[in-house]
Amino acid sequence: MQILKTIDAIRQVRWAELSLSWGLVPTMGFLHAGHLSLVERACQENDRVGVSIFVNPTQFNDAQDLEVYPRDMDRDLALLKEAGADLVWTPEPETVYPSGYQSYVEVEEVTTLLEGAARPGHFRGVTTVVAKLFNVFQPNRAYFGQKDAQQVAVIKQMVRDLNFNLDIVVCPIARDHDGLALSSRNSNLSPIAREQATCLYRALNAAQSAFAQGERQAESLRFIMIDLIASTPLARLDYVSVADPISLVELEEITDHALLSMAVFVDNTRLIDNVIIGE
Ligand code: PAF
Repeated sequence: MQILKTIDAIRQVRWAELSLSWGLVPTMGFLHAGHLSLVERACQENDRVGVSIFVNPTQFNDAQDLEVYPRDMDRDLALLKEAGADLVWTPEPETVYPSGYQSYVEVEEVTTLLEGAARPGHFRGVTTVVAKLFNVFQPNRAYFGQKDAQQVAVIKQMVRDLNFNLDIVVCPIARDHDGLALSSRNSNLSPIAREQATCLYRALNAAQSAFAQGERQAESLRFIMIDLIASTPLARLDYVSVADPISLVELEEITDHALLSMAVFVDNTRLIDNVIIGE
C-alpha cells in the first residue's frame, strides 16, 4: 500500500495504468468498521482503491469540534493495509488549501435543511473538499456511507449539476451490536452516555414499526421519535425529520418512501442517524 502526500504523486500513480478502474473512499480518518466496509466494497468493484485521510477544516463550523476530532493515523494505515487499499492520500492542510486559496463549491437548497441548518457552512466545506478529491483522484466510483444521508444527497446533487464523470456508491449504515450507528465521534462518549446513545436507533425503530403498522402521518412519526429521545436522561434533541429522501423537504403524509433522520446530543457528543422507510 502506497502512502502519498502530494497531488502530483497521486496523479502519477492514478495515470500509470490508464485502463485500470479506480474506487475512492474519502474519509477523515479514525476509521471504524463502517469505513472499512466501504473500502471492502470498493475493492470488490474496482481494480485499484484509493483512500483519503484528511480532517477537512472547512467543514467544521465549530473550531472546538475540529480540535477534539479524534485522530490515529498509524492505526488507520494498518487497518487500510489489511482491508486491501492500494493507495492512501494523507495531505497536509496547506496542500489542500494553499495560502491564497479562494474557490468553494456551493450546492443550494438541499444544503439549507437539517444538518445544513444546524451547522452553517458545513456542506460548503464538504462539497469543496469532495470536488477537489474527485479532481485529484479522478475515480470511476466514490464510496459514501448512508449514515450521512444528507451528505449523500448533497454530493449526488453536486455530481449531477457539475457533470462529474463517476458513480456515487452508497453503502449501508454499519451498526454496533446494540444498534448504535458506528461513528468516529462515539469514542467521545462516556460509558453511561454510550449506553444511552442507542436512543437514536430505538427512536428510528419505533417510528419504523408505526409506519409498518400503517401510520402515514409524518407528524405522528416525528412525535414518536421526539418522545423516545425526551425520555432518555442524557439526550437532547437537535432535530428530527421525516422528509423526502432526495429533496429533504419535510413531508406531511408519506405516500411512498421517506427518510427518517435525527441529530441528538448525548451528553456533549452530537450524533446522527437515519433510516429510509417504504423502500
Ligand atoms: O464523511 C466524511 O468523513 C467527510 O465529510 C468527507 C466526505 C470525507 C469529506 O471531508
